[in-house]
Amino acid sequence: MSSPERDGPELIMEDGRPYRNPTEVKMSQIVLPCHANHRKELSVGQLLKWMDSTACLSAERHAGRPCVTASVDDIHFERTIDVGQVVNIKAKVNRAFNSSMEVGIVVSCEDLYTNSHWKVCQAFATFVARSSGNEKVYLKQLVPQTHREQVEYSVAAERRRMRLVHADIMTDLLNSTSFQSAVSEDICEGQDEEEVIPTERTRVESVELVLPPHANHQVNTFGGQIMAWMENVATIAASRLSNAHPTLRSIDMFHFRGPSQVGDRLILKAIVNNTFKNSMEVGVCAEAYHGEEPLRHINSAFMIFEVLDENGVPRSLPPIRPEPQDGERRYREAIARKKIRLDRKYIISCKHTEMPLSVPWDTSNQVYLSYNNVFALKMLAAKNKWVLSSKKNNVKLFTLEENQTLSVRVESEVKVPAARAFLLLSDHSRRCEWDKHYKQCELIVRVDDDDLIYRVVTPSVSEGGKVQDFILLASRRPPCDSGDPYVVALRSVSLPTHPATDEFNRGEVICAGFTIYEVSQSVCKINYFNQTNPGVLPYISTDIAGLSSSFCSTFLSCSQFLLENRTTRCVLSNVAL
Ligand code: COA
Ligand code: ADP
Repeated sequence: MSSPERDGPELIMEDGRPYRNPTEVKMSQIVLPCHANHRKELSVGQLLKWMDSTACLSAERHAGRPCVTASVDDIHFERTIDVGQVVNIKAKVNRAFNSSMEVGIVVSCEDLYTNSHWKVCQAFATFVARSSGNEKVYLKQLVPQTHREQVEYSVAAERRRMRLVHADIMTDLLNSTSFQSAVSEDICEGQDEEEVIPTERTRVESVELVLPPHANHQVNTFGGQIMAWMENVATIAASRLSNAHPTLRSIDMFHFRGPSQVGDRLILKAIVNNTFKNSMEVGVCAEAYHGEEPLRHINSAFMIFEVLDENGVPRSLPPIRPEPQDGERRYREAIARKKIRLDRKYIISCKHTEMPLSVPWDTSNQVYLSYNNVFALKMLAAKNKWVLSSKKNNVKLFTLEENQTLSVRVESEVKVPAARAFLLLSDHSRRCEWDKHYKQCELIVRVDDDDLIYRVVTPSVSEGGKVQDFILLASRRPPCDSGDPYVVALRSVSLPTHPATDEFNRGEVICAGFTIYEVSQSVCKINYFNQTNPGVLPYISTDIAGLSSSFCSTFLSCSQFLLENRTTRCVLSNVAL
């Protein structure tokens, strides 16, 4: 079993001590019967409380002031934890933005008798630093020290982007006509009335009084405490549906909309929104009131439960009959959330080398595909085993061989301001002007200002063979902060409107693109990356083998293009910066 606690240090300080991230906070707890549920497993609510307080202390360590939980990304609980085992929680700030910070949390479990360790879950929470008045706090920036910290720092910016559009994705999917027609027929269709469970039976309402132990020293209720109360009512709703003790498998990304304080009464309401074959979605809503004040909406969360049989296999669950109006709406929304959850889980968390190359693109998964696109390029750029394989006219070619994949990186400096180079290189329809491999490049979908889908035609890889075409998602990101590079990421997607045809060989790009760093006001360093596959390897293998230097001539032609357009007003054909 892996041992998360025993990973060697990545960095040794000058005095010989192993480096420790200054924001890192660790908590270890032995699971006692009072922390456990009926199956003698640690209750997820208790775990959430420990995770939240560890993460909050890490955020406060960086901020030097009180912090509150703003949101928590999806959490998938891979394993349960038994009474007697030890839970180890590690939290550290990955990146500070303005007033908010992303905190990464890793939970592992330790069995004292067998001396084994295993990972239980990981989570990303956003904490916001509060001032004593109402003014916004501006946090000091974090300077990543180790390679791992640099990677987390870099992708935290992309995760933040995804989090902030979370609510819109759901609204867009629900409003899409294709989704509406797909689910409208679904409610209780063809179900045997005897087996159908009316959801009213699962409705729960419960009240909690917020006392000082539930709050921090600023009297704000801990987010983890609210999550624990929400988990409690959700578990009751799930048990009422299944007449069994359910297991919480995952919690969707959620946002604390407003604060709660000591003295608040919290009303927690839960109901089963929908059942899928082996799982159910329970929705929970938390509202607060104080004296005669009106109810304040604090949080809504959606939790997925399973009911395991004696062999640990999820049992099939009965269909439900939702209540008219709100119940039917929530039933449909649960289907939408399931789709979004699966997209997020598989597109975000899968390593790009393990997932199918051309993931079908659609509006509801585009945010995750863009995330995956930028994430993959940042991960490739962050690899530290690049080997210089040739150098010509200050253009360097590096290679990286890893897990049976070969990647190339071409690096050069150009006397063009970084922002200008970014503007020009992110307009792919102009790439034909400098890259002989781009015979044609047509914009086919403008997803938003920063994400565009192109169809690119490239020459045949063999003499007399078919020309190739690629459907490429291009995602561009200006720096989030000084020190960040400009990023232009490319990966293949598939589009039903542009299927492969007999006329062309459909090629696929796993991960490619540019990073552009500012060297000075007038000079930038450009890196071009390409993770090869059989479709693109023939274009570069002769270079890598030292048989040609077309990479150098392509890059020189790219530099020439950038220099020529250095000052002329460049009207981007499709992109507004
Ligand atoms: N996920 C992650 N971060 C979010 C977010 C979300 N869903 N919504 C807002 N934020 C971030 C913003 O990006 C911003 O970050 P930045 O300052 O680094 O740019 C920060 O929160 C503040 O945003 P702002 O627009 O100034 O305020 P807001 O009106 O959106 O309020 C909260 C955001 C989190 C402060 C507010 O919703 C709140 O007080 N929630 C309750 C927090 C709490 O008390 N939690 C404990 C349990 S009740
Ligand atoms: P909505 O009602 O629009 O679905 P809310 O944020 O109000 O969204 O509620 C979130 C979830 O909490 C709902 O999907 C539902 O599962 C549950 N919920 C909301 N109100 C109640 C209620 N009165 N009784 C039981 N459960 C509720």
